[in-house]
Amino acid sequence: MTPEQIRENDARWVLGTYARQPLHLSHGEGAWMWDLDGKRYLDLTSGIAVNALGHADPAVVAAIHEQASRIAHASNLYFTELHGRMARILCERSGMDKAFFCNSGTEANEGAIKFVRKFWHGNGSAWRHEIVSFRSSFHGRTFGAMAATGQEKIQAGFGPMLPGFVWADLTPESLLENIGAHTAGVILEPILAEGGVIEPSPEFVKTLMELKAKHGFLLVCDEIQTGLGRTGNWFGFQGTGLEPDLISLAKPLGGGLPLGAVLLKQRIADCLKPGDHGTTFGGNPVAVAAGLVVLDRLARPGFLDGVNAVAKHLREGLASLNGIGPFGALRGRGMLIGIEVSCDPGAIIDAAREEGLIVYRAGAVLRLLPPLVLTAEQADLAVEGLRKVAARI
Ligand SMILES: Cc1ncc(COP(=O)(O)O)c(C=O)c1O
Repeated sequence: MTPEQIRENDARWVLGTYARQPLHLSHGEGAWMWDLDGKRYLDLTSGIAVNALGHADPAVVAAIHEQASRIAHASNLYFTELHGRMARILCERSGMDKAFFCNSGTEANEGAIKFVRKFWHGNGSAWRHEIVSFRSSFHGRTFGAMAATGQEKIQAGFGPMLPGFVWADLTPESLLENIGAHTAGVILEPILAEGGVIEPSPEFVKTLMELKAKHGFLLVCDEIQTGLGRTGNWFGFQGTGLEPDLISLAKPLGGGLPLGAVLLKQRIADCLKPGDHGTTFGGNPVAVAAGLVVLDRLARPGFLDGVNAVAKHLREGLASLNGIGPFGALRGRGMLIGIEVSCDPGAIIDAAREEGLIVYRAGAVLRLLPPLVLTAEQADLAVEGLRKVAARI
């Protein structure tokens, strides 16, 4: 099929909820992708933070083949050794006690919201159901996660929203105004990614943790974008002072296949029993097998040090563009990079694509989410490519 036929087919038959870019992909390898004409692109977006090990990692491909040829789906009525293995790694690395597997980020947040509510029901305080989230946050597109998402444009046209959600600002004052003895839970991204790569201040975190000690609400860290190495640690909350009771995960967890998880503390798990929550495909064996390769790689001695060294190198290069063309200051941590820009990021995304670079946006900010396997040489190519883009805009 020609690109024109592909586009025609898509426009005629696929619901138009995505603004697709004019890029027809053929295949990828590591941080590279190729289009149907054989043009090569450096992928600095990783399928929106999914492809942590880049494209077609041989060990991920082998794990998918191997598991698909054994058993691709069994349902959650039976055991496979995969779930316990992945749950153990995630819990040991995060300080949580139990894992629930699902298929996506929004579904992980739905689970987390249900578990928060069930905890208070289980403790005889069903009246305590309010969940506080933050303006500019993004938690997903299903009803619970959408109600928590602090962006009017995501909710517009789908009302009424699920009740029991309150949005606060990312300030200590707003926390003091919105959190009380009635608060059941707070859901927070350690870095608000989709909302513009915004990092909560240390004062904010301190106040949040003081209020948690005072009122005892449950803290959900949405690590769907920040988790599994992207911000330099296994989890984005690590090193910030945040102490979550639940963690939602997805994106890179399945090695490119759909997989989500909720990690939770034992006292919350104690309020959940068989039949309380479930999903047919959750923890699909092929996705878990692929994801275990990602976790094994993260655990390899020196792997995260290497990621952090390349991220630092990339950031230094990008910082040298500050003041050139539309480029301004950097945001974020590790391989979750926001670049403030003085024009519509869409113009940069298009120009970068012509230069062979795949970049994306987070609102008014340019966002880079390179695969964790990006090399220092590829980081240099990214900076040089963006320098050329600056000259064109
Ligand atoms: C922080 C965060 N939470 C939740 C989601 C929703 O995940 P999914 O698209 O897999 O439902 C996203 C997706 O971008 C996200 O970045």
